[in-house]
Amino acid sequence: MTSRSVPFFNYPRAYLDDRDDLLRIFTEVGERGAFIMQKDLRDFESALAAYTGAKYAIGVANATDGLELAWMAIGLRPGDEVICCSHTMLATAASIKTAGGVPVPVELGPDNLIDPDAVEAAINPRTVGIMPTQLNGRTCDMDRIMSIAGKKGLFVAEDAAQALGSKFRGKHAGTFGLAAAISFFPAKVLGCLGDGGGVITNDDGIYDKVYQLHDHGRDINGEVKSWGRNSRLDNLQAAILNYRLLSYGKVIQRRRAIAAIYQARLGGLHELELPPAPVENSDHFDIYQNYELQADRRNELKEHLRINGIGTLIQWGGKAVHQWERLGFTVKLPKVERFFERCIMLPMNMFVSDDDVHYVCDNVVEFYRG
Ligand SMILES: Cc1ncc(COP(=O)(O)O)c(C=O)c1O
Repeated sequence: MTSRSVPFFNYPRAYLDDRDDLLRIFTEVGERGAFIMQKDLRDFESALAAYTGAKYAIGVANATDGLELAWMAIGLRPGDEVICCSHTMLATAASIKTAGGVPVPVELGPDNLIDPDAVEAAINPRTVGIMPTQLNGRTCDMDRIMSIAGKKGLFVAEDAAQALGSKFRGKHAGTFGLAAAISFFPAKVLGCLGDGGGVITNDDGIYDKVYQLHDHGRDINGEVKSWGRNSRLDNLQAAILNYRLLSYGKVIQRRRAIAAIYQARLGGLHELELPPAPVENSDHFDIYQNYELQADRRNELKEHLRINGIGTLIQWGGKAVHQWERLGFTVKLPKVERFFERCIMLPMNMFVSDDDVHYVCDNVVEFYRG
């Protein structure tokens, strides 16, 4: 096997592969002096709403802010509990906390997303909401989540940071609950050249409140209606996102094709538990923000891949939300904890070629079969 280098994510290429177009956009926006809340941002908000089928979209500074603003708009009071999965980024739980509530992390289910049975078991008189994370580009079984929420009268806000374009039964991630946030961090499937995020909602009242919160309390006419802050998406980033949204369908198809190669090459290894393969016409349409699997001897596998030039990632510093002891969690969640002993992410992005993916697979097979 000829050795090669396959970085986990090649950040310079996020710029270099589109350099001419990006410089053209930069020059064009710069010459207009269109830096804050200009046409490119409005166009992007309309395009994002149209793409997801949401009534409204608001560009915000990052998805963490977007999630927090969503909970602030919904209105959490001290002591209000919101159930989330412990297998998620800290930002999910942090948004509940910083908006004034109490995050309650629970177990993952067989699909490695929030377990609806665990959600039901965690509901008590203080529970006001559920926050599923549409993780790794896969949307949860939202029929179950919405039915639990409906029965118990709970709010749902989705962490769709990793899931733009992902669907459950034909409906876009982020459009099931009252509001959702999407991230445009550079390594996201739709990434800009810095921080960026969007909030989507179908609810007129939530839209008004998030809009005001993200722009100093001002409404769309500039009139101050409430207290707010600045969490706006830069117009230049919006212009880049408009450009990238044009080829977004192709990007998703490419990621699904990479997932299909991983599945075909690694599916027979009993030491691995792979994520679901891309299947047409199933309930789930996955966009593969990440290719996260569980592996026997995970740390040795990671090292074997590293010495062969392959970058991998263990999400979020190798810990689930409830395992960050300084944050005050006391709960034990054995399934999530086991998952974090075994999880690893393989390269999954537009910069890996088929040959790169086969090289990664050759090395994984070599590790287990010698
Ligand atoms: C699941 C999840 N939630 C929230 C966030 C926060 O997004 P941002 O970096 O745009 O604040 C991320 C980003 O990595 C994420 O993966």
